[in-house]
Amino acid sequence: MQELDPITAIDLVPHPLVIVTAGDPEKPGKRGGMTAAWVSRVSWNPPLIAVAIAPTRYTYQLIKEFKAFAIHVVSKSLEKVAMEVFGSLSGRDIDKFSVAGITPAKAKSVKVPVIPTAPLILECRLVAEYPAGDHIIVVGEVVKAYRGSNEKPLVWYEDRSAEVV
Ligand SMILES: Cc1cc2nc3c(=O)[nH]c(=O)nc-3n(C[C@H](O)[C@H](O)[C@H](O)COP(=O)(O)O)c2cc1C
Repeated sequence: MQELDPITAIDLVPHPLVIVTAGDPEKPGKRGGMTAAWVSRVSWNPPLIAVAIAPTRYTYQLIKEFKAFAIHVVSKSLEKVAMEVFGSLSGRDIDKFSVAGITPAKAKSVKVPVIPTAPLILECRLVAEYPAGDHIIVVGEVVKAYRGSNEKPLVWYEDRSAEVV
C-alpha cells in the first residue's frame, strides 16, 4: 500500500466539473460564475445539491445577494472557458460571460444567468449554508432542470500524489 497525503488524496476521488453562475443576467457588472468540482447531491426529496465555495469568491457574494445560483455541467465544448475564464479569472474585475463569448440566457425560475449550451442546467434556490473548514457549503434546492445540449459531461480528476514527498 502507498500512503498518501490526505490533502491531495481527496482529489483522487473523481469529481464532477461544473460552472456555477449567479447574479443578474442582464447586468454585466452584476453577474458572474466560477468553475467548481466540489459538488454533490445531498438530498433526494427535496432535490438538494451542495457546492463547497471559498468565501473569497465573487460568485459566492452574488449567490448571497440573489439567493440563487445555477449549476452547469461542463462538456468538451465548455472545457476551455471553464478552465481559462470561469475557473481562473475574478468576476470582480471583468464580465466573464463577455470574455468567454457567451450570451447568458435568463433562467426560468430564479434570477440567474444561464449558459444555454451546457448539457445540463440546474436552477437552484439558495436554502442553506454551512461553514466547512476553509470553504462554505452552499446548499440549493433544484427548482428547474433542463438540457442545453446532448454532449457528455466531463469528470474532474487530478492526480498530484506524485508531487508529495
Ligand atoms: C477545475 C477547477 C475546479 C474548481 N473547483 C472549485 C470549487 O469547488 N470551489 C471553489 O471555491 N473554487 C473552485 N475553483 C476555483 C474557482 O473557480 C476560481 O477561484 C474562480 O476564479 C473564482 O471566480 P470568482 O471570484 O469570480 O467567483 C475551481 C477551479 C478549477 C479550475
